[in-house]
Amino acid sequence: MAPTAAQPQRPAPASSRLFRLIAIVILALIVIVGLAVLITWLVLKPKQLAYSIENRSIHNFNIQNDHLNATFDFLLRAKNPNHKISVYYDLLEVSVAVDGQTLAFNTLEPFHQPRRNVTHLEAHLEARDVALSRSMSKNLRVSKASGDVDLDVRVRARIRLKVGIWKLKHRTLKVLCSPVLVHFSSWKTYDTTDCDIDY
Ligand SMILES: *[C@@H]1O[C@H](CO)[C@@H](O)[C@H](O)[C@H]1NC(C)=O
Ligand SMILES: *[C@@H]1O[C@H](CO)[C@@H](O)[C@H](O)[C@H]1NC(C)=O
Ligand SMILES: *[C@@H]1O[C@H](CO)[C@@H](O)[C@H](O)[C@H]1NC(C)=O
Repeated sequence: MAPTAAQPQRPAPASSRLFRLIAIVILALIVIVGLAVLITWLVLKPKQLAYSIENRSIHNFNIQNDHLNATFDFLLRAKNPNHKISVYYDLLEVSVAVDGQTLAFNTLEPFHQPRRNVTHLEAHLEARDVALSRSMSKNLRVSKASGDVDLDVRVRARIRLKVGIWKLKHRTLKVLCSPVLVHFSSWKTYDTTDCDIDY
């Protein structure tokens, strides 16, 4: 047991060379994979999808006994600026909220957005007898009297990106447009509201 000091300190030369070879192969693989990712990135030049709200209106707005009826129309502009990536929208839901309470939502038709494409989506949302808190009811009546209201418009979508011939896995696209100012009287024009996007 004792004579450890007498034994050779170096590992056998053959296994040392094997370790070095393995280390070099692993390093080379890491570099190759890194380069492949970099080249793919440079070729695809992925760009963010972009959303904005171009037009909006409220009709049949009525509050009675803290319940709301109203119809909301939003014209959304969905832009895919990518040269090499198209987008499958498999499920698309638009909702409108005020101070955190959802007033109405609707689903839109699934569609495939080609490369370098702008698609306009018309979202028609109906609030039918939506229960409001006392304070929300009051705030909305004050807004109505003042002539306009700030709303939050959200889009949630299940999307798949198609890169070349490959369809990537599903992911959830979340769009938030806030604040979206809407006038109660028609005949008003609007600036475009840009939306935040996350996917
Ligand atoms: C915006 O919507 C209003 C009301 O629906 C409509 O009268 C108007 O023409 C629309 N404007 C644009 C630029 O689409
Ligand atoms: C909303 O509309 C429904 C049916 O159209 C009606 O029964 C209800 O009283 C309305 N509620 C309000 C708050 O106007
Ligand atoms: C964008 O894509 C939609 C849906 O495929 C299509 O209807 C529309 O014509 C395209 N627009 C342009 C400018 O290519």
